[in-house]
Amino acid sequence: MTPEPASAPYADALQRNAAEHWMRLGVPGHQYQPEHHRALASLAGPGMLAMDIPMFTEGVDLPAPGSDGPSPLRQAMDLAAQAWGARRTWFLTNGASQGNHVACLALRSLGAIAVVQRSVHTSVIDGAILAGLRLEFVLPTIDPALGIAHGVTAAALEQQLRDHPDAVAAYVVTPSYFGACADVSALADVTHARGIPLIVDEAWGSHFGFHPELPASALHSGADLVISSTHKLGGSLTQSAMLHLADGPYADLLDPLIDRAMMTVQTTSPSALLYASLDLARRDLQLNGLEGVGGSIADLERARALISKRGRFVDPDPSIHAAADVIALDPLRIVIDTRSGGTPGFVARRMLEENSLIHVEMATDSCIVGLLGAGSRIDVDYLVEALHELPVMDLGDHPPIHLPPLGTRAMDLREAYFSPTEIVPVGEATGRISADSLAAYPPGVPNILPGEIITDAISDFLRSTAASPYGWVRGSVDPLLQRMRVIAR
Ligand SMILES: Cc1ncc(COP(=O)(O)O)c(C=O)c1O
Repeated sequence: MTPEPASAPYADALQRNAAEHWMRLGVPGHQYQPEHHRALASLAGPGMLAMDIPMFTEGVDLPAPGSDGPSPLRQAMDLAAQAWGARRTWFLTNGASQGNHVACLALRSLGAIAVVQRSVHTSVIDGAILAGLRLEFVLPTIDPALGIAHGVTAAALEQQLRDHPDAVAAYVVTPSYFGACADVSALADVTHARGIPLIVDEAWGSHFGFHPELPASALHSGADLVISSTHKLGGSLTQSAMLHLADGPYADLLDPLIDRAMMTVQTTSPSALLYASLDLARRDLQLNGLEGVGGSIADLERARALISKRGRFVDPDPSIHAAADVIALDPLRIVIDTRSGGTPGFVARRMLEENSLIHVEMATDSCIVGLLGAGSRIDVDYLVEALHELPVMDLGDHPPIHLPPLGTRAMDLREAYFSPTEIVPVGEATGRISADSLAAYPPGVPNILPGEIITDAISDFLRSTAASPYGWVRGSVDPLLQRMRVIAR
């Protein structure tokens, strides 16, 4: 039934949702906690409309009339560059996705091939399609028990770079959705040894470097260009993000290319509120990072210790840390192997929401992943009790879902994307070439790319994700993945 024109269904639903009292362990990192994010909270309220100004407002985005100094916007971006240790920082209003699109467009001016971690976010794939960049993949290490991909080792990256001497850059993602951090210094060394830059999608690590217990940031570890989703754990408003250019040997080369690519994909009406929230997040991290982040770390440390003490759920952190590529874990993440305690991850996520109003960032079949944004706090005892109220189930009725082996490539990514396509029932898709990039979301890592051959294992996995209470498949023709788009014969 079509709603009445007098209704405002989205705004109503949003306001209802805002009135509920959830424990939020997902993005955005401010986690709806005005008491811990006062400056950001003050951006809203009745003054909001007055701050929703058009771009190129003098004295805000542009220098004030008669002033020969930098505009407040430029100053804010310069302060961000200083805070993160970049030569230059760009504010983004279409998320880290935009940062990945920009990076791909910039790289294409240097050449046609990049060596890229296969488990990059789908926005890197989209960026490569837009730019016409050919991707040669380096495989991440996989944890089959938890059903998750980590990062890449320097040895694996070096091998791929050797096999593709024409590559103009290496492109990796770290930390992973599970907070596992790769050795960016080692990755930078092998990349720089070939005379090319290292691009790091650090979407989940915008808070790194603002507390001694946090992992080192990619910029401080030798990355040349870093994509950072500040709204995730850094505490700005959803959709706001940053792109940082390191002050390294590739800065002169990349700087004008990034400017040009920004012009191509940045809206001509960026939101002043999003920009302001980035400025505030930077200030908060710089001024209150030690105390704020310290409190968030302490909460999650206590949660891990209490869960361990109760003995029901196996702590997955040691096994994640043991992966060949992992050198550190983000303490603002908490991964709970609920399957080891008798509850599949998807079921645990649903029950925590329904029974306890606890929202976690994501679930896989085996675990749930929660996070705290820098400075946010939680009622640890409430979380631990809620976890222990989850039912111990007969897991024979819930056989584990495994990540499918990757499809083999039959056609170039961009050629496949622009080829004539047809939509077929999923049962007839096996053996055909996918026209779409399909990614179980979260984490949004494509399970199949345009140009790859669809297998039963891939479509079964995607269909079970689509059918699970919280999964969806980005890029699919229909929500339950009953049909798939393939290259026409
Ligand atoms: C590794 C990675 N990069 C980029 C993105 C895109 O970030 P955004 O939602 O800010 O566009 C995500 C989103 O989850 C991600 O996980």
